[in-house]
Amino acid sequence: MKITILSLFPEMFTGIFSESILKRAQEDSKVSIEIINFRDFSLDKHKKVDDYAFGGGPGMLLSVEPIYNALISIEGYFDAWKILLTPQGIPYHQEVAKKYALKEHLILICGHYEGFDERIRAFVDEEVSIGDFVLTGGEIAAMTIIDSVVRLLPDVLGSEESFTQDSFYEGLLEYPQYTRPQEFMGIKVPDVLISGNHQEIEKWRKEESLKRTKERRPDLLQKTKKKD
Ligand code: 6GU
Repeated sequence: MKITILSLFPEMFTGIFSESILKRAQEDSKVSIEIINFRDFSLDKHKKVDDYAFGGGPGMLLSVEPIYNALISIEGYFDAWKILLTPQGIPYHQEVAKKYALKEHLILICGHYEGFDERIRAFVDEEVSIGDFVLTGGEIAAMTIIDSVVRLLPDVLGSEESFTQDSFYEGLLEYPQYTRPQEFMGIKVPDVLISGNHQEIEKWRKEESLKRTKERRPDLLQKTKKKD
């Protein structure tokens, strides 16, 4: 998979791309990530990328030209899946991550400031939000999406890290897990998990997963039901 990020703050990404699974996935050529600063595509002599809103109002808007020029400079941009990060987008969740993991090339456009010139919307395939709160820019949202998509790519996680047990994988939260010691501050590991009875363990985990989802996220159960 190829991922291209359009951002005014490329350095925000250096930490997360050079650690852990995202680092390894790039080293193993499972994903190649490219960051373009669309300020470089401003035709203005001061490299301006924003301007006042027609009709007045506070703050500045990102102009359409630098983003458009940056977009069309990307090799294969026409066939890539182009995502605009904005609190006005569709809510991002695991099913969207799975859909993105099947794409060959994602382009993520990170806004900043008070908003975009509306015409930017004409050049993207989808608008996505990572939740009902406002971030200062799309970068953290882009990191969230990239992290959650790359770990779903074939052979990115080792078998011991497999995502098939994850929360949300089957529309449910994950069951409770324990490691050593068997007892800590009087709190014991449930007997069934040390019983060695794999059928019973499997049954317990399914029940706990369901119970936890019912308690914490009944909305997820509504969704799972609808799918059946
Ligand atoms: Cl994608 N961008 C911004 N700026 N704020 C957000 C968001 C995105 N998703 C939730 N809040």
